[in-house]
Amino acid sequence: MSASNSEPRRKDWNAIYESEVLTRRRRSGHLAKLRKAGFFDIPRHSRILDLGCGTGEMLDILAEEGFDDLTGMDRYQPSGHSSKRWCHVQGSVERLPFGAEKFDAILCAHALHHISWEVKIDTFFAEAARCLKPGGTFFLIDHYDSLHLRAALWVLRSPLAQLHSWSAAFREQIRAEHRELYRYLDRWGGLAKKLRDMNFEEKKMRKDLFFFYFSGKKASR
Ligand SMILES: C[S@@+](CC[C@H](N)C(=O)[O-])C[C@H]1O[C@@H](n2cnc3c(N)ncnc32)[C@H](O)[C@@H]1O
Repeated sequence: MSASNSEPRRKDWNAIYESEVLTRRRRSGHLAKLRKAGFFDIPRHSRILDLGCGTGEMLDILAEEGFDDLTGMDRYQPSGHSSKRWCHVQGSVERLPFGAEKFDAILCAHALHHISWEVKIDTFFAEAARCLKPGGTFFLIDHYDSLHLRAALWVLRSPLAQLHSWSAAFREQIRAEHRELYRYLDRWGGLAKKLRDMNFEEKKMRKDLFFFYFSGKKASR
């Protein structure tokens, strides 16, 4: 899709994603997901990069949990970013605007299904590995393909979802991003293989009902 075609859709998606009902609902979920990913095992003074950070909801939580060296990167500048607790850098994951071996941990949460259909995933993973210090950890959180996820998405896209204010708002979000999401789910098998093949010293993959939690540790020197 050309940039001019994707811009109006992007604005719609932003407005839906940043709606109060969805933001409130995401908050408690984000903390639980960071726990499941094992993020809180890393030291609080670690230098952290959040890729595809959006409005920085994950970074706000990490700051509240005592992390003090936080950078977020997204291809868009968030409209209301005023946090002094983390800094924002604009850029794309296919070419990270950072030097090699800068970060102790890199997080990419809920962004892979937006990224994966438009950039080469190998390039993105190689860039993340380049920017990690030796011994640093790459955390990825996103959907994985399953029949139960597809069934849930089907219900959420149907008029049934309009019965509740949260599911009605989520329905709008799913309807705005369904092309990326289904394209990503169709390719999930190949992507999981790439994660397995990544040249990391230690890898963990955990799944719950709708999400996977991957962590990979770059080899120490
Ligand atoms: C669903 S939001 C996730 C926001 C945040 N990580 C969270 O968990 O709340 C996905 C974000 O990925 C960003 N994104 C998509 N493609 C990107 C790319 N190529 N480079 C950088 N960011 C990208 C989008 O702009 C969007 O803000």
